[in-house]
Amino acid sequence: MEKIRKIVFPVGGLGTRFHPLTKVIPKEMLGLLDKPLIHYAFEEALAAGVEEFVFVTRHGKNSIEDYFDYVIDNLPEFYTNKRGICYVRQTKPLGLGHAVLCAKNVVNNEPFAVMSADDFICHHRSCIGDMMASYNGKNMAAVIEVQREDVSKYGIIDVDYEQDNFIIAKSVCEKPSITDAKSNYGIVGRYVLSHEIFDVLSDLEPGINGEIQLTDAMMQMIPTHGLVGFKFEGERFDCGSKEGILSAILHISSHNPELQPIIKKFMSGEK
Ligand code: G1P
Repeated sequence: MEKIRKIVFPVGGLGTRFHPLTKVIPKEMLGLLDKPLIHYAFEEALAAGVEEFVFVTRHGKNSIEDYFDYVIDNLPEFYTNKRGICYVRQTKPLGLGHAVLCAKNVVNNEPFAVMSADDFICHHRSCIGDMMASYNGKNMAAVIEVQREDVSKYGIIDVDYEQDNFIIAKSVCEKPSITDAKSNYGIVGRYVLSHEIFDVLSDLEPGINGEIQLTDAMMQMIPTHGLVGFKFEGERFDCGSKEGILSAILHISSHNPELQPIIKKFMSGEK
């Protein structure tokens, strides 16, 4: 199977859940202690052996580029290992599918990965690396079991059958109502996709919320490219929410010997 060399980071989202802070700071630059969310995503992709990092960015997000100048300058082996980084622009916030489509001319004719920095996954291996290693030509998305009352926040998979960590999907629906959801398996921001999705995306009508939905494109491709849900190891935090950011910071801190006593002291109410 063809090696996955390229990853797309859609970083053009508006981050309205963190207004007013995200009026001036991209949501991907929100910090988990000393690193922004996008840096954790970048490290997960780097550990997976990705060679080309494609950021789909937009107006007001320049600090991401400035930040990665610093990151790459401190990775002397980055370019010598044939790696590269580039930025393409999404001029209108028309949805995740549209953001991915903006990367078409950089990805060209090869399978590629997509990763959302909002979904922080804490694991000793790289989640996207595990997905890239098991890619077999079928479109693939990471999934978790979500609470029934939360199905309308996710792309939800209708299960055909399950095999080990893989769920073979019959269909997928973006943000269904509780009554319409066919399972509790929700997609989180890790995908490995065939480049043929670009043709599907460019012909796609806007879906729910008036956005070009990546889920709708994956749904159309099920007859030709299948769709596999990947149940990954490790813990996922929805860092598009305040609860997720706080939980992720507590999770990282509770594994850090320097910070453990501070959490303990705070929890005990000690002065
Ligand atoms: C996007 C996808 C959705 C997925 C979700 C999880 O939605 O469209 O299918 O389940 O990310 O990260 P968003 O959260 O951007 O509305």
